[in-house]
Order: sequence, then C-alpha cells, then structure tokens
Amino acid sequence: MKIFIDSADIEQIREVAALGVVDGVTTNPSLVAKTGRSFEAALADICDAVDGPISAEVVSTEADGMIEEGRRLAGLHPNIVVKCPMTVDGLRATRVLSDEGIRVNVTLIFQPAQGLLAAKAGAAYVSPFVGRLDDIGEYGMGMVAALVEIFDNYDYPTEVLVASIRSPLHFVEAARMGAHVATCPPAVILQLVKHPLTDIGLERFLADWQKVPK
Ligand code: G3P
Repeated sequence: MKIFIDSADIEQIREVAALGVVDGVTTNPSLVAKTGRSFEAALADICDAVDGPISAEVVSTEADGMIEEGRRLAGLHPNIVVKCPMTVDGLRATRVLSDEGIRVNVTLIFQPAQGLLAAKAGAAYVSPFVGRLDDIGEYGMGMVAALVEIFDNYDYPTEVLVASIRSPLHFVEAARMGAHVATCPPAVILQLVKHPLTDIGLERFLADWQKVPK
C-alpha cells in the first residue's frame, strides 16, 4: 500500500518524508488555509520535497471552471494530480481532464456508488473519507472494502485512496482490505512508528549494554 501525507505544511511534509516511506501528498483547501501561504507557493515546495503524486484541489463549483483550474494546476508540475469534488460538475470535469491525460482524484466520496461513477468518469484515484463517516456513526471502512471489491470485479485501474484517516487502526484496516493508498496526517504516520514495547525494549538493551565489559 502506498502512503501519502495528508498535509500542506512543508515543514511537516519534510519531516515525515525523511522517514523514507512516503509515496505522495494530498492537500485540500482547508489544509492549505492552515499554512497561511499562497496555494502556488505551498505546492511548489511540496513538489520539491516529495517525488510522487501531489493532489491539488480545484475550488470552482462549475465544470468549466474546474476544467480551467485543473489544466492550470496540472501545468504547474508533472506530479500534480487534480482533485475534483464528487458532484455532477465534478464528474463532467473528471471526464474531460482524464481524456486530456490529466490524472484526477475525485474527493468527498461517502458511498461506494459515488466511487464507481468516479472510476467510470476516468478518475485515477477516488478518495473515500472514512473518519467523517465514523463521525456520524457509520462504519467508514466498510466503504473502502466495497470499493476495493468493485474495482477488482471490473478490473478498473482507479486506485482507492483512503482519506480522512484518524488513527493507525484505519491505516492497518486499509492495508488488510487491499486499498491502494492511505493518505495520513503527519501525526498518524509518526504514530505508526511507535509502540511502547519497542521503547521499553530499546531502553533495556541500552541499559544491559552498559554491563558489557569494555
Ligand atoms: O484530504 C482530505 C481528508 O483526508 C480530510 O480529513 O480529518 O478533515 O476528515 P479530515
């Protein structure tokens, strides 16, 4: 499973990318707003820091505007993947951009039928938001299992990019279900490294090493 960083903060991205396990980055308007920087400046730094797919979201709500924005974003760097929302206009834009060879990530997916339509419109990725479904008392990961099964049934090349991941449990479940990508906040990626028994074990090894005659 590929690991993407879900952040637009260049310091966080550099810190996590240094682990050597990161394959790409996803951003959204809320994450960009948190940085206090311009979208283009943040994107340029991210593209320099990580050599992999970098999702950049359009903010137009009409297909023509999304297509224009998508073309402009894709022109900024070859690794840019254009993120379109799962709406009627978003699907229309996905079809046009995909036909032009621009990779599209269809975002804000909350049920498998939406993901299936996005795949049919040519999306390279679909982004099911699992944490936000959990927030309203549904089982978000159920949607991931369904999408993986559906794409497998029909050999769709579209990748299931699990988003709105809130914990290592989401990450592990995504991998067990065969999701192609998990995009995680930096804090979750750092949590994946940790286990209290690892820390205790290391402490003991180092303490015992002091007893070895030098
Ligand atoms: O990139 C979109 C997604 O990961 C957002 O997550 O935590 O705001 O629901 P969250």
